[in-house]
Amino acid sequence: MLEHGGALRAAANRYGIPLDDWLDLSTGINPQGWPVPAVPATVWRRLPEDEDGLERAAAAYYGTESLLPTAGTQAAIQALPLIRAPGRVGVLHPSYAEHAHAWRRAGHGVEPLTVEHLDAAVTGLDVLALVQPNNPTGIRFSRESLLNWRARLAERDGWLVVDEAFVDATPMDSLVGLVGLPGLVVLRSLGKFFGLAGARVGFVLAEPTVRERLREPLGPWAVSGPGRWVATRALADRAWQDRTRAELDRAGTRLADLLRRQRLPVAGGTSLFQWVPLLEADFWRDALARRGILVRRFADPPGLRFGLPGAESAWRRLELALAGVRAERLR
Ligand SMILES: Cc1ncc(COP(=O)(O)O)c(C=O)c1O
Repeated sequence: MLEHGGALRAAANRYGIPLDDWLDLSTGINPQGWPVPAVPATVWRRLPEDEDGLERAAAAYYGTESLLPTAGTQAAIQALPLIRAPGRVGVLHPSYAEHAHAWRRAGHGVEPLTVEHLDAAVTGLDVLALVQPNNPTGIRFSRESLLNWRARLAERDGWLVVDEAFVDATPMDSLVGLVGLPGLVVLRSLGKFFGLAGARVGFVLAEPTVRERLREPLGPWAVSGPGRWVATRALADRAWQDRTRAELDRAGTRLADLLRRQRLPVAGGTSLFQWVPLLEADFWRDALARRGILVRRFADPPGLRFGLPGAESAWRRLELALAGVRAERLR
């Protein structure tokens, strides 16, 4: 099992701090997500059905009907490697490790690639899987690079898989407008910007042959009825989305500023998280956890990813804790 953010219960046990006393900054999930109303009883009781409004709401939000709902992006990440013959797959490193894991497990040869090596490597690949903007580094790829790689891969029936789990706050960075081009596979999630990670809803946006082949490994009722119901409404709520984009933009800058004030070398991020490469990542993660603040540590390269505090009290708590850890380090 790969390490993920959000493992609050394990941290609570390890540090002997009650669950409710934690500030969880270990994910890139919007702490002020879409406000979920009560779900009608029939939605819980009936089997989910296609064309209940989810596909229509998603087509309007993403601007294309070439989409397939999945139980979070994770389900798509696991299913895509199953519908190709084993081949050579390049994955960005460091990045969301589930991509490399899923391709490897399905028998593909996986090559971890740093940003500088991507362009040259495309020539020898069948699939290139990227995260845009990248988690945890926040790196964004230019549209020209992505389209160039897509075209070169498509010449050999290859794919460019672009995981856009964190793109909703900056939709201009998305390739959804080009979905339908051969070999372009875009993944989207309701978990991050919308803050609905528990609902397990995401989408594969791709040409019809890819979507058709995915239906088999995904199986029937791929997304739960309550997940579909909630996602339909969140995708249609334009006023909330516009407001949230502006708020997240401010919050992301505020978090980067706060970390820099504590002399942490922020190297990138998105409005939902900031990336701090740090040789002493283990010490900081542990010292923050002793203060009831959970952040996500990465080992290779060593660093910490900080998600957004929600309430004002959480912002203050983070700043005080960081100052405390810095003082502890100097002692
Ligand atoms: C880049 C990236 N893609 C996909 C996922 C999985 O998202 P979902 O909740 O949609 O399965 C994550 C979760 O952390 C992620 O960081």
